[in-house]
Amino acid sequence: MADAPKKLTIAAIAAKVARGEPFFQVTAVDYPTALLIDRAGIDLILVGDSLGMTALGYGGTVPVTMDEMIHHAKAVSRAVERAIVVGDLPFGAYHASAEDAIRNAIRMQKEGGTDVVKMEGGEAFAGTARAIVEAGVPVMGHIGLTPQTATKLGGFKVQGKDVAGSLQLIRDAEALEAAGCFAIVLEAIPDRIAGLITERLAIPTSGIGAGPHCSGQTLVLHDLIGMFDRFLPRFAKRYCNVAEEIGRALDDFQAEVRGGAFPAPENCFTIKDPDLDAVRAALDAPDKAAE
Ligand code: KIV
Repeated sequence: MADAPKKLTIAAIAAKVARGEPFFQVTAVDYPTALLIDRAGIDLILVGDSLGMTALGYGGTVPVTMDEMIHHAKAVSRAVERAIVVGDLPFGAYHASAEDAIRNAIRMQKEGGTDVVKMEGGEAFAGTARAIVEAGVPVMGHIGLTPQTATKLGGFKVQGKDVAGSLQLIRDAEALEAAGCFAIVLEAIPDRIAGLITERLAIPTSGIGAGPHCSGQTLVLHDLIGMFDRFLPRFAKRYCNVAEEIGRALDDFQAEVRGGAFPAPENCFTIKDPDLDAVRAALDAPDKAAE
């Protein structure tokens, strides 16, 4: 029997970055895609609250609940043998108090089966991040464009485009590192500011719309494979077009049924001729069959 792949650790990610190799994070919302992502050797599998759009049909991430996150995290965790599974804390799960944040981070690990949690927010949330880390749950930070608070940020906009904004991002990153975060996602910020942050931190950064100077890169699976074709952020890249493939398969299915090519003999189950004759005879003379 082949050996099960070795489970990755946070230290292994740090070692990879120290060797100058990039690390990879991709989102997953269900069991089959998590299996494929893990098999492909992706280092971190993020059960992101973007599942509000990609799996649940919400208009954004704000409505997503802890119960919904845990439901998807469970499916992903069951599939993953090697990657680190990251559970995103949804809006409202860590905002009211440190106690709430700790309770929800522990729920994500115990019920969702994730290895670590991710939370949005910079300097203002460093205390919350520290409380979760001190409770024993590793935390990945997330700064820049933070979709849970996009309304407050003035929409889904690039952050840190001016001097004050860039300096705030640097303070945010440093505060999260000091709070004990093991890595930070940098979303939608200027590439050279992401480079500056990455240079200044001892912990790895993972960029999504933050250019090539981060320690690693994050993408949402549905963007990467073209599964969600309503919208593709400029910073994402589609490496294949699964939506097109699914559409083609569904057209072919209907055409083959109409044309008689499906189901074919190899898709059917048979009954022996004498048994079929007996069934017919029984239907023609029900009283006799009952004797
Ligand atoms: O929810 C998510 O998918 C995320 C990524 C965009 C980093 O937070």
